[in-house]
Amino acid sequence: MSALWTEADLLNATGGRFASAFSASGVSIDSRSLQPGQMFLALIGENGDGHRFVAGALAKGAAGALVHAMPEGVAADARLLHVADSFEALHAMGHFARTRFQGRLVAVTGSVGKTTTKEMLRCILQAQGATHAAEASYNNHWGVPLTLARMPPDARFAVAEIGMNHAGEIAPLARMARPHVAVITTIGTAHIGHLGSIEAIADEKASIAAGLEPGGVLLLPADSAMLARMRAATTATVETFGAAEHATHRLLQASADADGTRLVVRVAGREIGFHLPAPGLHMAMNALAALAASHLLGADPVRGAEALAGFAPGAGRGARRTIVLPQGAITLLDESYNASTASVRAALGLLGLAPAARRIAVLGDMLEMGEAGPAEHVSLACDVEANADLLFTCGPLMRRLHDAIAPSRRGAHAADSTGLAELVLQELQAGDAVLVKGSLGSRMKTIVTAIETAASGAATAPDGPHKDAS
Ligand SMILES: Nc1ncnc2c1ncn2[C@@H]1O[C@H](COP(=O)(O)OP(=O)(O)OP(=O)(O)O)[C@@H](O)[C@H]1O
Ligand SMILES: [Mg+2]
Repeated sequence: MSALWTEADLLNATGGRFASAFSASGVSIDSRSLQPGQMFLALIGENGDGHRFVAGALAKGAAGALVHAMPEGVAADARLLHVADSFEALHAMGHFARTRFQGRLVAVTGSVGKTTTKEMLRCILQAQGATHAAEASYNNHWGVPLTLARMPPDARFAVAEIGMNHAGEIAPLARMARPHVAVITTIGTAHIGHLGSIEAIADEKASIAAGLEPGGVLLLPADSAMLARMRAATTATVETFGAAEHATHRLLQASADADGTRLVVRVAGREIGFHLPAPGLHMAMNALAALAASHLLGADPVRGAEALAGFAPGAGRGARRTIVLPQGAITLLDESYNASTASVRAALGLLGLAPAARRIAVLGDMLEMGEAGPAEHVSLACDVEANADLLFTCGPLMRRLHDAIAPSRRGAHAADSTGLAELVLQELQAGDAVLVKGSLGSRMKTIVTAIETAASGAATAPDGPHKDAS
């Protein structure tokens, strides 16, 4: 097998200097998950200085390590590539890998649905040609260059996810990824605390167009109130997807069933009917966006829809399971990975559709909303009333929602998810459907884990193939 990174490419990309030369089959920034033959990049990150792990990575079979300081416990003539700054070298490798890539690349941004749409694109494209896609939610200043650095030059398709916490972050990442197609899934209030307004969020997302290849296409959500604003902000070719009559690629019909949605869409003028095994209109919209983007990349959307019939939502992103507790079986809707107003609203809609004796929503704070936070939380009251019999909440912001709903629907409120877990467990009865959702920082996974633990080895029956968050 030829190396992903040859000695010459590493020198050309980074301008570094080998102590002992090496080539690598892959790129790792975490020595725990490093596979033999991959090179290890010693970055300075949240978990400290990666140089501490170089000796361990080499002992584990790393092809070599990229460093900007001499790591402890490593011989001077070890397989090291010395650079001035390892983080800048990662970016240089990203640029280099993008330049040598011969295939077609799609980049996905948006307030919610990026990873889901990226995984749908992976599912569609890999059935039609070698496809490289970002691992997990790798969408930031290290996730995007790492995704590119891992991209095989001869893949036919590549899928990158591009995210932001603050204004100004998307355009530089888009310029590195240089997509042929850029998708904006949705514009919502996620991260509004840092951006200030929905218009500012739309402007930031639309800046992905700055990275488009010449002749590239920006694919926008037709039903968004921000459509005109985003369209006006670019000189690139724009196509749209959505339910609106004017959409280039249209959702024509969606009928929900317990396992998902039967859809009829029109993509590039072709009417396609298929079953998407991921419940919720938001999933249908992600699927439409992914099919439209795949068409713009040169793939066949009819075959794409066939592939989506086997799509499974990721853990924490809508995966459903039947869990057998001592008191009987319940359905768990695991949305614990993240939350924003749009995604909680969508998830509550799903809960409302779940066949169940009682529907219970367990919600933790949606974070990073700044001053808009309290009102955004209270705005969910109607959705709770329409879709849930009982609401359990934790966190100071969700307290507002707890107080805003009818007393008959109030389950319990606790300061944090650890405190809430026990209260939820006491309430659960056979036949319940339980939705667990909140921002990552609200640690709602604790409640999913508590429910799983209470099943205490009793069989858990997946509704379909599940995978780790990705
Ligand atoms: N189009 C959508 N509209 C509303 N909610 C959605 C949409 N797509 C996905 N969701 C929900 O939003 C949550 C996050 O989904 P996903 O991980 O795909 O988003 P993301 O944009 O990648 O998030 P992050 O910013 O954390 O990377 C999930 O709970 C999912 O079910
Ligand atoms: Mg993501």
